[in-house]
Amino acid sequence: MSGEHDLLIDLHRGTERQGPGGTAETLRAVELAGLDRAAPLRIADLGCGTGASAKVLARALDADVIAVDTAEPFLEELRAAIAADPALARITTLNRSIDDLPFAEGELDVIWSEGAVYTIGFEAGVAGWRRFLKPGGTLVVSELTWLTGKRPAELHERWSGEYPEVDVASAKLAVLERHGYRPEGYFVLPERCWRDTYYAPLEARFDPFLERHGHRAEAVALVAAEREEIAFQRRYAAYVGYGVYVATRHDG
Ligand SMILES: C[S@@+](CC[C@H](N)C(=O)[O-])C[C@H]1O[C@@H](n2cnc3c(N)ncnc32)[C@H](O)[C@@H]1O
Repeated sequence: MSGEHDLLIDLHRGTERQGPGGTAETLRAVELAGLDRAAPLRIADLGCGTGASAKVLARALDADVIAVDTAEPFLEELRAAIAADPALARITTLNRSIDDLPFAEGELDVIWSEGAVYTIGFEAGVAGWRRFLKPGGTLVVSELTWLTGKRPAELHERWSGEYPEVDVASAKLAVLERHGYRPEGYFVLPERCWRDTYYAPLEARFDPFLERHGHRAEAVALVAAEREEIAFQRRYAAYVGYGVYVATRHDG
């Protein structure tokens, strides 16, 4: 293992979630989407990581869940969890980029994606994924979002530089409308979805990670960058967070 990408995966593997989120919030989105718990569904979970949301969906719904990611170590972890728990038997894994998906037109009842669309850009993601949904099918996607109309300049400049698509919820909803979706709902992930389910388990991994990598420069730099990002997000949590967007494919 040498590259920065491999180090990043090594730091995050073994955690329940690789981004902000929570079981209660995944279930809240299921409710908001009005998904029928008794109907057989075909769901793709895009950028699934180690499968936190895929597992919640498999347990809560009568669903085949295709969990898609390009990080094989994350998919390996998910496959081990599937093998150990019969309730997860209907999850399958797919190592494929979320901008190059093999699904047929109209194949899916639901597209789910927590904390991953930013890797290909929100607009490109939702526009490209739409055709895989059945008419009336549901999209649930979480995305970095400005929570207020105004924000400190330091915050604005940093995130606009790192992710130019960061915007307010009304702009995200407009993107969905422009690309043939009917917005059905939106909520903000509460702060504990960052603090308790994402950052705390990650912070607990810093020291063992540094030990494992002999405190070499790349590993030390990665941990320093993660610590800085955590501190920055904590400082500005009132202004920026993750929005969860629920929309349906609208035809006509
Ligand atoms: C912030 S993590 C979120 C993981 C998971 N959904 C969660 O909420 O815990 C983003 C995930 O997207 C994956 N990813 C990044 N680019 C991707 C791509 N082009 N195609 C598929 N997965 C990708 C990463 O490997 C990582 O697992």
